[in-house]
Amino acid sequence: MEQTTSKGSSGASTPHAPGTSVLIVDFGSQVTQLIARRLREIGVYCEIHPFNKVDAGLLESFAPGAVILSGGPASLSSATSPRPDHAIFARGVPILGICYGEQAICAELGGAVSTSDHREFGRAEVEVTATCDLFTDVWEAGARYPVWMSHGDRVDALPEGFKVVAQSDGAPFAAIADEERRIYGVQFHPEVAHTPDGANLLRNFVLRVAGLKADWTMAAFRDEAVKAIRAQVGDARVVCGLSGGVDSSVVAVLLHEAIGEQLTCVFVDTGLMRAGEGEEVVSLFRETYNIPLIHVEAEDLFLGKLKGVTDPEQKRKIIGATFIDVFDEEAHKIENVEFLAQGTLYPDVIESVSFDGGPSVTIKSHHNVGGLPERMKLKLVEPLRELFKDEVRALGRELGLPERFVGRHPFPGPGLAIRIPGEVTKESADILRKADAIYLDEIRKAGLYDEIWQAFAVLLPVRTVGVMGDERTYDHVLALRAVTSTDGMTADYYPFPHDFLGRCATRIINQVRGVNRVVYDVTSKPPGTIEWE
Ligand code: XMP
Repeated sequence: MEQTTSKGSSGASTPHAPGTSVLIVDFGSQVTQLIARRLREIGVYCEIHPFNKVDAGLLESFAPGAVILSGGPASLSSATSPRPDHAIFARGVPILGICYGEQAICAELGGAVSTSDHREFGRAEVEVTATCDLFTDVWEAGARYPVWMSHGDRVDALPEGFKVVAQSDGAPFAAIADEERRIYGVQFHPEVAHTPDGANLLRNFVLRVAGLKADWTMAAFRDEAVKAIRAQVGDARVVCGLSGGVDSSVVAVLLHEAIGEQLTCVFVDTGLMRAGEGEEVVSLFRETYNIPLIHVEAEDLFLGKLKGVTDPEQKRKIIGATFIDVFDEEAHKIENVEFLAQGTLYPDVIESVSFDGGPSVTIKSHHNVGGLPERMKLKLVEPLRELFKDEVRALGRELGLPERFVGRHPFPGPGLAIRIPGEVTKESADILRKADAIYLDEIRKAGLYDEIWQAFAVLLPVRTVGVMGDERTYDHVLALRAVTSTDGMTADYYPFPHDFLGRCATRIINQVRGVNRVVYDVTSKPPGTIEWE
């Protein structure tokens, strides 16, 4: 990929009126995308471009209303460190440099930067030493505020025209301003949540300093994404794998809006979905949206391949490979397919800028369709690759997808197979499906569904003795799991009231033959994982 833009991997910039948007110049920080996210939350359109692609030509065509220079891992003390093109400064638009971006501004405009003995990583405090437009109604002179720092180098001497507006123990130039030229620099990261006032500082920069309008919305994203998809795809055909989850559903509806009948969806029913899921997907896409949909009933195939397999990794591999076989076979029946649409999200994409060889991208293979594009020789359409999960949900709502789809808990590609430790059989999948449906029904009835990141049942390959009526039973143990999380990387167990858990246990044991004991998992992640396998 040659460049990153907020419009997917096509590299095509979105048309926008001159002077209305922000150009984010990426120096390779891990959190550059968060700058874009904050600006979108504020309602201002922006695009991220790698530093070595931002030259006079790009500035002319993009016509930014403001420029933000991101942080980055390099050190300005190195002769080969990346530098912002001088044309950025010649344009006369407001500039904000963040961390490495601040240092780069100073180096460019005649200040001095050095490698400091006093490095700062993590939480720090800044003291505001002077007022400036960046701080208006957010920070007061003389007060101290928490920020998040991550830097080794620091600014030692300011270029002419700049003043210090905040300082910290490790960074005497924690924030600097040249209000005449409207150029600002901050050593801390305003884009991360750990700088509590950061979003308001960014708001001041784009609205107050640069005078941009906060009129960009998810509706605008939808229109721009539709245009970008049309430009990328032309009149070629696109195939999209539906999983029943939010991401692939949103991709499918967005693509259908953009290219109509050129899109065909393929839904592979593995027999490892939740209760009613297959039917819901088929009815939503065929009946509500009228999207051409190939529905493959492949339960026997998947369960056949999983017969006798107990190792979790092997189960995942078998499911992944079988999915690809089935999908490939079906997609080949569609004539002239050139593109594969994927619901890749920003957290699936780790982008980095390599300073010797130009920008590079590393992508975690998508759980469900890894390997497909190469095998099928397809190009990718990934309209969500700049979005976070909650933004995808907002886009789904904007597209009119029903709330039960949009708000649905994440569900793993290998489905119920990784919630049945040991061998997966039709019988065990059916027992789990029933119990899981009751558990989710109780959660919805209690009004707790949206407070929980993920809730599901796990069918254990352990039998215990019970007594039901006058009879002795010897049946499965079922574990219930529910966690809160923001990204699935870390998680806490959800503290259900005891009477709620008791109610679920009673209902499941009464209604699901094969289960006679229910337990609740109170492990957080780490040390546990969310799924059991
Ligand atoms: P763990 O179990 O690793 O799960 O804590 C973190 C999140 O990832 C989901 N997950 C998967 N999703 N294919 C997927 O599409 C997989 O193989 C897979 N394994 C875990 C899990 O449901 C949770 O949301």
